[in-house]
Parts: sequence; structure tokens; C-alpha cells
Amino acid sequence: MLKMTKPRIRYVCNSCGTVLTRWEGRCPSCKEWGSLEEEILQKHKTHVRHYAGKQQRDVVRLKDIEITNEQRLTIPGDSEIQRVLGGGIVPGSLILIGGQPGIGKSTLMLQMACNLPHKVLYISGEESESQIKLRASRVAKACDECLILCETNMEQVIHHAGELSPDLLFVDSIQTAYSSSVDAIAGSVTQIRTCAAQLQSFARKTNTPVFIIGHITKEGNLAGPKLLEHIVDVVLQFEGDRHYIYRILRTTKNRYGSTDEIGIYEMESNGLRPVANPSELLISPVEESLSGTSIGCTLEGARPLLIETQALVSPSVYGQPQRSCTGYDTRRLNMLLAVLEKRCHLYFGQHDVFLNMAGGLKIMDPAIDLAIVAALISSLNDIPVDKKICFAGEVGLSGEIRTVNRIEQRILEAERLGFEQIVVSQYQKKNITDYKSIEVRKIGKVTELVDLFFT
Ligand code: TYD
Ligand code: MG
Repeated sequence: MLKMTKPRIRYVCNSCGTVLTRWEGRCPSCKEWGSLEEEILQKHKTHVRHYAGKQQRDVVRLKDIEITNEQRLTIPGDSEIQRVLGGGIVPGSLILIGGQPGIGKSTLMLQMACNLPHKVLYISGEESESQIKLRASRVAKACDECLILCETNMEQVIHHAGELSPDLLFVDSIQTAYSSSVDAIAGSVTQIRTCAAQLQSFARKTNTPVFIIGHITKEGNLAGPKLLEHIVDVVLQFEGDRHYIYRILRTTKNRYGSTDEIGIYEMESNGLRPVANPSELLISPVEESLSGTSIGCTLEGARPLLIETQALVSPSVYGQPQRSCTGYDTRRLNMLLAVLEKRCHLYFGQHDVFLNMAGGLKIMDPAIDLAIVAALISSLNDIPVDKKICFAGEVGLSGEIRTVNRIEQRILEAERLGFEQIVVSQYQKKNITDYKSIEVRKIGKVTELVDLFFT
């Protein structure tokens, strides 16, 4: 009699990737509810030792290893992604680009695929050939040579890729791909892992760079990118607010470069345009200074950005004053308001306070505090801040202005953009006063800010 073996099942958290042997309602590691998904282990034996017998590798001394100078592929027309990748595409690398649906991942990838002067195979499981053609004709000038395959079966994809041997492979998206070797629906943990593993082995064997697109939801808890992070070499994240035109490309992992670099794009009717000089876009071109606006010098990754912060402080008509932030943490705003009340005796208790960061950017850098404080006081007292002044400093609980990192870079960027003054912390260690066209003003407390600009 044929003996039925029970399939081996394990449970994988699609949020953090933790593996459990039994199901639980809540992941014990990341505390996410309902994130555990069943994974049926492969039908085939997976534990075949590939390095058996003669194929065994030799142990080598580190100094004897020769560095093969990998020739990176350059990306014409898109210096942003090129920089984010660490200076081009490394042959044989597996690159994952994640982001919320509709943010522009397919647009970015197709645009790049069409502009590359190489043989490119673009696999799409999401759109039809004619849809891709329509999009390509909008976003790329020359798109005739790019090879398109609308296929979701991974074995077919690998087969075609093997026959065509393209210079680059794009897969849109990993959630739609499925492998016949496992019994699971497309988009499940098992399928995503299996497909990614197949793509990885293709990339390594043929030394072809492979780009994989993956969706995440707002909470990042859909099966996908989180699970793949350890398999791939580079994880790119494409983010932004769909209601704004700016998109930011970040790296959260990069085996071939720094994760500090970011790329900024503008979504236009004919695709994504790399923005080389973002500060100029984040500051409104109005010449006159208006009350309630001030300019902060913040960092996105390693890149200094000057961004306009706007505050509106107006007498509250309802009992409960409103506090509302766009692009900034409301709790931190409350903290800054409390500091201003306590240390400067500026009372916001009877006022609604609205705060807005230009361009829909979310600013986490504490160096923006000083600009926000200036905007708040400016709006409260209805005294404008000169548009030729910018700010870079963190505000502490006792009202002290604290130091921020990479101050020289910030000052240089402000100087390059033609600012006349930058206000920084007096505790900033380095000797930072010698600049040609920008005056560095140092202050130690928020009260000094009030004395300088608002009396
Ligand atoms: P898409 O690349 O399909 O997003 P994703 O692959 O991340 O799901 O981009 C979708 C949005 O981009 C869509 O809402 C329309 C907008 N878009 C433009 O504004 N201009 C363009 O040229 C293109 C192609 C898309
Ligand atoms: Mg898409």
C-alpha cells in the first residue's frame, strides 16, 4: 500500500519573516496580528548537497583572492538611480524595488529598461503587451529594442531568459509570479520565496542583473519585500505621497554601496523625471517674505535639502485647539509648542496650529526643529522671517539649541543656493564660520531666536 506522507508545513510571518512550527494569531517576534502564513515545504527534496565530491570548493587565503573588477553598467539619463545603486548596476546582482501600489515602480523600471543601451528582457505579469507599449511610448524616447514578455510562470520566464540571454532582466512583479514546483497561490510566502530563489540562481549563473518589483501595503505586511530582503543584494524603496508629484528612491540594503544615498523624482505626464536640484523645488519662488514660513536645512540620506516649512497659528474658535501636521510628527510639534510656552512665554493654548512641509515630504531629521520653531513664532507674532535666512538645529526640552550632524554639508548647500545667513547651534564643535557668502549665526537657546528675529 502506498504510504501517504504528510506535507511539511511551517508558518512564516509576512511582516518580519519569523518562522514558526505552529500557527499563532500574533507573531511573537514583531507582534503583528494575523501575519502568519502557511508555507508548504517543497515537494522535491530540498536538501541536496550541491557541493558533493569533486565540486567541493577549496579553502583560500584572503590575500590570494583576486578582485575581479566588476564593470558596473551605467544608466544613461537617470543619474538618481545610478547614484542610489552605488554607481551603476553590478552584474549578477539581484535588486528588489518595493513600494506601495501605484507609486510608480513599473514606470521607473520600464523607463530604465527602455533607455538602457543593452539587451533587456522585461517580464510583466501585471499588464498586457499593449498596455506596456502605451506606457513605454509615453515615458521613453527610444523603446523599440526592449523585449517584452507577459508571463507569470517562473519556469517559462527562466526558460525564455535562458534562450534569449539578455543583459538585464526585469520582473514586474514578484507577487504575480508563480512556480509550478510548489502548490501555493501566487503571492503567497512559498511562491514568492521559490520564485525569488529561481531568479537568484539565474542571476548568479548567467551574471545577469535582475530587477524584481514587489508591492507592499501601507503597513508593509503583505507577503513580499520583507521576506526577500535577505535573499537580494540591493533593496530599493520607492516612496512618496500619491497626491504629490515627488517620489523618493532609497536603499535599505546595498551590498555594493552606501545606503545613505537617495534619489528624487518628479512624476510627470511623460514619466518620472530625475530631480537633480530638489531644494529649488521645495522652496516657493515667491520673493516677498511671508509670516509663518521659514526654511530649514535638513538631510535626506546623505543629501542636504533646503525645505520650506509653513505654520499657521490662528485663534481657535472651538474649545479644543487643533494641532495638525503634514510631513512632520504631531507629537514632536506638541513638544516644540510646550517648549515655546515654558521657555519663551509664547502661548499657543488658545490657538489652532497647522504645520506643513513643502512637497509632501516627511521629515524625520531633528535639525528641522529650529525652522519649525521660527515658523511658529513668525505666524503667532505675524512677523515674517527673511527668505535669505535658513535654519539647522535641534531644539531640546529645556529650550537649548542642540547640534546636528553633517553641519558643513548643510552650510555649503545653503551657501550654494544663495542664502545669506544660516542659524545653527552655538555648541556645534567645528570652527564653522569661514564661508565666503554666507554668515553663520550661532545661538544657544530658543529665547535668543526670539530676540534675534521677532522683537
Ligand atoms: P505605476 O508605475 O503603474 O505604479 P506601480 O507599478 O508602483 O503600481 O504608476 C502608476 C501611477 O503613475 C499612475 O497612477 C499614473 C502615474 N503616471 C504618471 O503620472 N505619468 C506617467 O507617465 C505614468 C506612466 C504614470
Ligand atoms: Mg506596477
